[in-house]
Parts: sequence; C-alpha cells; structure tokens
Amino acid sequence: MAEQDEYTIGRHLENQGISRRAFLKFCTAMASALALPPSAALAMASELPGKRRPSVIYMSYQECTGCLESLTRSFSPTLENLMFNVMSLDYDDTLQAAAGFQAEQAREAAMKANWGKYLMIVDGAIPNANNGYCTAAGKSALDSIKETAKGAAAVVAVGTCAAYGGLPLANPNPTGATMVSDIVTDKPVINVPGCPPIPAVITGTLAHFLTFGKLPELDHLGRPIAFYGNTIHDRCYRRPFYDQGKFAKTFDDEGARNGWCLYELGCKGPTTYNACATVKWNDGTSFPIESGHGCFGCSEPGFWDRGDIYKPLSAGLWHGNMAAGLGVAAAAGVAIGGVAAVTARRRQDNTTEKK
Ligand code: SF4
Ligand code: SF4
Ligand code: F3S
Repeated sequence: MAEQDEYTIGRHLENQGISRRAFLKFCTAMASALALPPSAALAMASELPGKRRPSVIYMSYQECTGCLESLTRSFSPTLENLMFNVMSLDYDDTLQAAAGFQAEQAREAAMKANWGKYLMIVDGAIPNANNGYCTAAGKSALDSIKETAKGAAAVVAVGTCAAYGGLPLANPNPTGATMVSDIVTDKPVINVPGCPPIPAVITGTLAHFLTFGKLPELDHLGRPIAFYGNTIHDRCYRRPFYDQGKFAKTFDDEGARNGWCLYELGCKGPTTYNACATVKWNDGTSFPIESGHGCFGCSEPGFWDRGDIYKPLSAGLWHGNMAAGLGVAAAAGVAIGGVAAVTARRRQDNTTEKK
C-alpha cells in the first residue's frame, strides 16, 4: 500500500518516458477544456506530478455504448492522455481484456486499495423494477452499483441515460429504469448528460476532478456549469437569423440553403443547455445545427418523450424553460445532496409538460 502511495503521477510520467514539454502541453489542453486561464495550466504542471494517480472504475448498465464510443474519441484532452498521464483506469467491463472472475477481482482489488478515494464513472440507466435485471458476474445492476459506489469519492453519471434515465426510461419504461442519483444518494453525483455527451465535456469534467480533487461547480441539475451554463440558442451561429425572423420552413428550401434558423423545423436549442455550439464535436469540426438539423435537446431530462422532434417548441414550453434556465445561475453551487431530489422533481415536471 505504502509503495502504491509513492507511485505518483510524476514517477509514472518518468517511467513512461513522457517529457516535461509533452506534459505541459497536456496541462494546457486540460486548462483550456475547463475554460481556465493559462496560469491554471502552470499550476497543474507544478502540482500534478506530486500526486498519486487516482483510480477510476467505469461501470456500464442499460446503455448502447454510444457514451463510451464518444469518450474514446476525445481529442482534447484525449482519453489516452488522461489514462496514461493522470488516472489509472482499473476497471471497465467494455474496454478491459479481462473477463469473468479476473474482471471481478480487478474491480474488487481496485476498490480495496483505493477505498474512499476512487472515482466511479457510470453510463447507462439502472433497471429498478426487478433486482435481477442486468446481472453480470452473479450481481444485478442494482447490487453492483450500490456495492461499487460505497467506496467511491464521487460518481460521474455519463450520458443522459445515467444522468436522467435516458432512452431506457422512455414510456412505458418496462425495466423501471432510473437515474444514478436516484440510487446513489450518499455520494456526490456529477451529471454529464448528452446522448451521447461531447467527448471533450466528459474528459474535461474528469480532468477537473482528477486535477483538483474536487467537483466542478454544478447547476441545479447536477451538470458542470463550465459546459452546461448556456443554451445552444445562446451561442448558436444561426442566432442572427432567428433575431431577424428568418426561418427555414423545410430542410431543402431557400432558407435552409441560406443557413437560416431551424426553429420552425423543431430546433430545441432555446431550451437545451449544452456546449455543442462552442465546443462542438470531432475536434471542433461541427455540431448538429451546423450539419443542417435542429437540436432535439438530447442533454435535457425527458427529451425522448416530448413528442415529435420536428414540431416547433410551443411558446408556453419555451418560456417555462427559459424561466427555469434563469434559475440556473441563481442555483449555481447548490449542495450536491439536493441534486437527486431536484432532478426527480424536474423529471416529474417534464412528465406533466408532455401531458
Ligand atoms: Fe447511448 Fe445515449 Fe444512453 Fe449514451 S445516453 S448510452 S449514447 S442512449
Ligand atoms: Fe436557436 Fe436553433 Fe435557431 Fe440556432 S437554429 S438560433 S439554436 S432556434
Ligand atoms: Fe444534443 Fe442538441 Fe447538442 S441534440 S448533440 S444537445 S445540438
């Protein structure tokens, strides 16, 4: 154990032959992903080498693997950078080579060696209707998430399935799918929604915790404000057309060809909090609206049950959500313990909205 404690990030970098220059570049990428000033990169570069590599345990439940696919395609900082330079990914049932008892042993060993300190990442919703669903290695999803969360320092719910129940929770929800924060109620839970979330947003959130050892500032739905503080509409490059009342009416009309606003084609950008319009996808190449399709609100609770995605937002729904959005700033920094309750309430609001 003592030997493990001495195995710092600095020693690991040395063993991997990673130069100081490459490490500085990595710190700069992390600072920029977190929207921190350049001085933060220098602070990271001086503090990180003396720290121990934190253990990360990644658990997947009712999901489509899209979130993990997204994570492994991160450009800045890359998952490889995070894994090889900063964290020790001790268990991931999809990526690891080990299977069966070996895999279970790896998870149990990592939990024992890092009790109270490891970061748990979860993707997928948790089936709650029957304590037997999603059984792996003799343990149901419910039992395994509870067992693994017990020794975690914090839990990161990656993707809308883990954060809000996602697609598995869609009506009629036969498995009783629920969100991580409904099951894990005694640990901080960070929600990183999106279907899937932007890779740089996942790695940026992980980098923040791994670097500073604490949660980033969260909004009232448990999302990091650095990435979910604005709506897509707030930062959309088509916004000037919206303000001038220039709307595409079909996907192949003159307005669409001119790049006009997609509001009338069902864009949910005005009620959706995410960083797509600024961080974008594929190393900042594009995002759905830039590809000619409206946002359908994939980072918001209940988006799958809101009816026709091509129907424009009603004025009532829009104004209701804009008001809720204004509450985000006021509620910033809310105690993590309250997130589960607020999220559940919001989910109920969404159910009522769609009736
Ligand atoms: Fe798949 Fe979307 Fe769920 Fe991620 S959030 S597991 S991409 S359905
Ligand atoms: Fe807003 Fe969507 Fe129009 Fe962009 S395309 S300005 S997000 S309504
Ligand atoms: Fe999802 Fe809308 Fe971004 S659909 S990917 S939140 S533009």
